[in-house]
Amino acid sequence: MKKILITGASGFIGSFLVEEALKRDYEVYAGIRKSSSTKYLSDSRIKLTELDFSNPDLLNQKISELPQFDYIIHNAGLTRAPKKADYFTSNYQYTKNIIDALISQKKVPEKFIYMSSLAAYGPGDPELLNPVQVSDTPRPLTAYGRSKLESEKYLNTLPNFPHIIIRPTAVYGPREKDLFTVFKMINNNIELFVGFKKQHLTFIYVKDLVKAVFQSMESGIINRGYFVSDGNVYDGKILGNIIKKQLGKRTLRISFPIGLVRLIAIISESTKYISGKQALLNYDKINELECTNWQCDIQPLIDELNFKPEYNLNEGIQETITWYKQTKWLK
Ligand SMILES: NC(=O)c1ccc[n+]([C@@H]2O[C@H](COP(=O)([O-])OP(=O)(O)OC[C@H]3O[C@@H](n4cnc5c(N)ncnc54)[C@H](OP(=O)(O)O)[C@@H]3O)[C@@H](O)[C@H]2O)c1
Repeated sequence: MKKILITGASGFIGSFLVEEALKRDYEVYAGIRKSSSTKYLSDSRIKLTELDFSNPDLLNQKISELPQFDYIIHNAGLTRAPKKADYFTSNYQYTKNIIDALISQKKVPEKFIYMSSLAAYGPGDPELLNPVQVSDTPRPLTAYGRSKLESEKYLNTLPNFPHIIIRPTAVYGPREKDLFTVFKMINNNIELFVGFKKQHLTFIYVKDLVKAVFQSMESGIINRGYFVSDGNVYDGKILGNIIKKQLGKRTLRISFPIGLVRLIAIISESTKYISGKQALLNYDKINELECTNWQCDIQPLIDELNFKPEYNLNEGIQETITWYKQTKWLK
């Protein structure tokens, strides 16, 4: 039985990675922290493994005590933070810490999968509307994207550390909490829009993302990076239209000019220093909302790994809504 360590196992994507690893008969070590919820990690076969990425000495000690893993999926990552520096610490420094610990303890796995993001490259050209490609120069727009890119760069300095970099676009599905706010609002008959430009968006259903991760991990390919989407390009209004149709709701559509949203972001950013809480809207979020081209090229994933997404947005949302309703997230 091959041994796999999945970090960030308590989160949305991590919990699906764990389920897939169990289905594929791996001996699964779920990397969590003391404070992590284990709500989705109740299967008795899962070996809960506390890891503190912040302390290199303790991490070295822990890695030395753990078995040699065949595979590691380093999926832990900070997606929302009050301070920009937190992204750098959690997403870059902690990634470097686990890689360094594996190297120094001579526990380098057969393959290390790094969960990066399309944000590491940033959006595509808004005029040419080309999908972002691996050969493009990365231009991350946000502190989050820059922190992911920094880890990618570190991995690229290590030719003897076999790895794959996965760069998903927006991921959705059961258990997801950010896009869920859109579902919730539509369920309450409200739809919000920012700016008036036509957007070209991409999405990936969590189960298809997990499939891409395992396909790349179990392949003979190393030291490559792949963008992951379902291969379709969606107009900015489609997500809301699909949710509306499936929930059987009519909505009041409210459009906010980008200037007003920027002003709200400025106020929101200033109050976070007082409250210590993460701002709902911040400059980075606005920069992302303003971008019109979030297309990415998944042809390498198709050509090299025979990746075939099973869900388009319509099908994925249907399954997601069913779950939101079953769990009473949506009433
Ligand atoms: N969701 C998307 O649309 C999307 C798109 C592209 C890439 N990604 C990447 O996919 C990964 C998983 O994201 P997600 O959407 O599943 O987010 P999530 O639900 O917030 O899960 C994040 C996971 O990372 C763990 N984590 C965060 N900071 C940590 C730290 N400092 N030390 C240890 N563990 C830490 C969390 O642990 P706790 O449960 O203890 O907080 C949680 O298990 C992330 O690396 C993210 O950047 C996500």
